[in-house]
Amino acid sequence: MSNQRLKGKVALITGAASGIGEAAAKLFAEHGAFVVVADVKDELGHEVVASIGQERATYAHCDVRDEKQVEETVAITLDKYGRLDVLFSNAGVLGPLNGILDLDMAAFDNIIAVNVRGVATTIKHAARAMVARKIRGSIICTASVAASVGGSGPHAYTTAKHAVLGLVRSTCSELGAHGIRVNCVSPFGVATPLVCDAFDLKPSVVEANSAAISNLKGIVLKAAHIAEAALFLASDESAFMSGHDLVVDGGFTVISRSYYHN
Ligand SMILES: NC(=O)c1ccc[n+]([C@@H]2O[C@H](COP(=O)([O-])OP(=O)(O)OC[C@H]3O[C@@H](n4cnc5c(N)ncnc54)[C@H](O)[C@@H]3O)[C@@H](O)[C@H]2O)c1
Repeated sequence: MSNQRLKGKVALITGAASGIGEAAAKLFAEHGAFVVVADVKDELGHEVVASIGQERATYAHCDVRDEKQVEETVAITLDKYGRLDVLFSNAGVLGPLNGILDLDMAAFDNIIAVNVRGVATTIKHAARAMVARKIRGSIICTASVAASVGGSGPHAYTTAKHAVLGLVRSTCSELGAHGIRVNCVSPFGVATPLVCDAFDLKPSVVEANSAAISNLKGIVLKAAHIAEAALFLASDESAFMSGHDLVVDGGFTVISRSYYHN
């Protein structure tokens, strides 16, 4: 490919065995990046690596709740490729759909552990590697439309995604001094296992449901659209963007409509 936008860069992607992370791993590799596919679903992760090719991708088992595993995954990346230019901190869980009157506090803690603490841990260790090597890296987190409006997801999830946006803004304020950018992508509903499994629905039904409440008609949001937004933030095309929430929602968050009362 002549117009490779990540040529020679090294990208670590968490939650890359499935959905948005998988789409990003494939797209980043197509654009010339070496990719570390990190996830807890080892079999699926190895399949993603096989589909990209061993010469461009590596799998690392990494539960983002465990700081030691995150540290080791960054070390594996540096050992294998010698640098780290891009972190796509994308691993996330939706959790149970209970309302506040039946809130499951253990599940709440787990969602915060994966979706917030896990993101903070990955930023910490990726940024350490970038700062130590004077790399002007790009860190991208996956937030959500639930980072800016209530009613588009369960309570713990919405809380966690608001926190991700806070973390992006806060860490960008420190890492800018090192030339490191921190941004997030915020998807509207995509028919990945995260959503399909939670509602026990087929992808085609999830897509039909999303399309029905979508503001933008005539197009179905796919994981590939989110991967394209992440690619933009990873590439030099977004060289002066930091602390930005790149919402990929067809206008959903700027109009008045509730997921629960639509
Ligand atoms: N699908 C949507 O509608 C949607 C909308 C907004 C935001 N998001 C966000 O997009 C991101 C990716 O989700 P997806 O929709 O592609 O779902 P997905 O379930 O297909 O992918 C999520 C991946 O994260 C991995 N993961 C879960 N817990 C982990 C952990 N502790 N450590 C490492 N990996 C872990 C899973 O194994 C899975 O491969 C998530 O952060 C999610 O919150 C999704």
